[in-house]
Amino acid sequence: MEAYIFEQNGGRENLKKVTLNTPALQEGEVLIKTKAIGINPIDIQVRHSKDMLSMITGGKVPQQVILGWDVAGIIEDVGENVIGFKSGDEVYGLVNMPGLGATCATNVVASASQLAHKPDILNFTAAGATPMAALTAWQAVITLGEIKAGEKVLIHAASGGVGHFAVQLAKNLGAYVIGTASAKNEFFVRNLGVDEFIDYTAQPFEQQVHDVDVVIDTINSVEHLLRSVQVIKKNGRLVYLQPHFAGAIQAQLDMAGVSGFGVFVHSSAEVLNEISALIAEGKITPQVTQEFKFDQLREAQFVVESGRATGKIVVNVN
Ligand SMILES: NC(=O)c1ccc[n+]([C@@H]2O[C@H](COP(=O)([O-])OP(=O)(O)OC[C@H]3O[C@@H](n4cnc5c(N)ncnc54)[C@H](OP(=O)(O)O)[C@@H]3O)[C@@H](O)[C@H]2O)c1
Repeated sequence: MEAYIFEQNGGRENLKKVTLNTPALQEGEVLIKTKAIGINPIDIQVRHSKDMLSMITGGKVPQQVILGWDVAGIIEDVGENVIGFKSGDEVYGLVNMPGLGATCATNVVASASQLAHKPDILNFTAAGATPMAALTAWQAVITLGEIKAGEKVLIHAASGGVGHFAVQLAKNLGAYVIGTASAKNEFFVRNLGVDEFIDYTAQPFEQQVHDVDVVIDTINSVEHLLRSVQVIKKNGRLVYLQPHFAGAIQAQLDMAGVSGFGVFVHSSAEVLNEISALIAEGKITPQVTQEFKFDQLREAQFVVESGRATGKIVVNVN
C-alpha cells in the first residue's frame, strides 16, 4: 500500500509518500480500501508537536508515523470474529482515537467496532469528511452540552468542521443558534440554519451577544474561552474542545456560576450509527468545500493548517 509517513515532527515537507506492506489483520479488524480521507486540525497538530504525538500514542511513538483518523472506503478483507461487516461493504469511521488511526494510506486497518456502514445518501468524499468532526460535535452538543429545545446557544467557528455539524445538531434539537465566523463565511453559516450570524471580525462577539445558555467554543485559546464565559448566563454551560485548558479557566467559571465541559473525542461506532441515522433522514449534512487527490495530501493539510477552512477538506483516493 502507499502511505504518507513522517519520522520527525515538523512541517509538511516532513511528510513522505512511501510504499509499505499492508498490515496483517488481528481479530476483530477489517482491511479497508481507502476511498476518502477527511483532514482535521489534529493531523497538523500531531505532525508539528512531539508532545501531541506522545499524548495521542500514550508515549508509544512508532518510528514511522502514519497520520489521519477519518476514513471512508470499501472492506477488502475481514479478520476473525468480525460481526456485521463483510468484504465489499462500504464503511466509514474515526479510526483508533485515541491512538494513531493511520488513515493517510491507500489501505487502512480498523477495528470493526469503530466503523459504521456508509449512509447510501453520502458519496465516499462526504462520508470521509464526517466521522471526527461529527462525533466531536455530538459530544459537544448532545453528550456534554445536553442542549435542549428553546435554549440559546452560541457556536464559535460555525463555519468550521466541528462547528458546522454542531449548528445542525443544535438546530435539530430545537435550540436557538447563533454562529460566529468572518463575513466571507456568512452565506455558508446561514445556510446551515443559524438564527443569527455574528461576524467576529466586525466587533468582538461579547459586544453582540449576551445571556446565552450554552457556548460551544471551538477556538484554541484560553483568552477566547474566558471571553465566552462573559456571555453565558448564571448556571449556563461552556463546552470547549481543548480539555487541557480546564485548569486555566476554572476560577472564572466558578465566579460566573458556569459549568465547564472539555470534549475529548473517541472512536465510537454506536454514536456514528446515530449520526448515520440523522444523515439518512436529511437532518444533518456534511459540507465538503475542497477536494484533493492522494498525491495532493500535503496541499490539503496546508488548507486546514491555515485555520481558514470552510466546512470539510477531503482527500480522495482512487
Ligand atoms: N477535543 C477534541 O476531541 C477535538 C476534536 C476535534 C477538533 N478539536 C479542535 O477543535 C478546533 C476546531 O476544529 P475544526 O475541525 O472545527 O477546525 P477548522 O474546520 O479548521 O476551523 C476552521 C474555521 O474556524 C473559523 N474560525 C477561526 N478563528 C475563528 C474565530 N476567532 N471565531 C470564529 N470562527 C473562527 C474559520 O472561519 P473564518 O475563516 O471565517 O475565520 C474557519 O471556517 C481545533 O483546534 C481542533 O484541534 C478538538
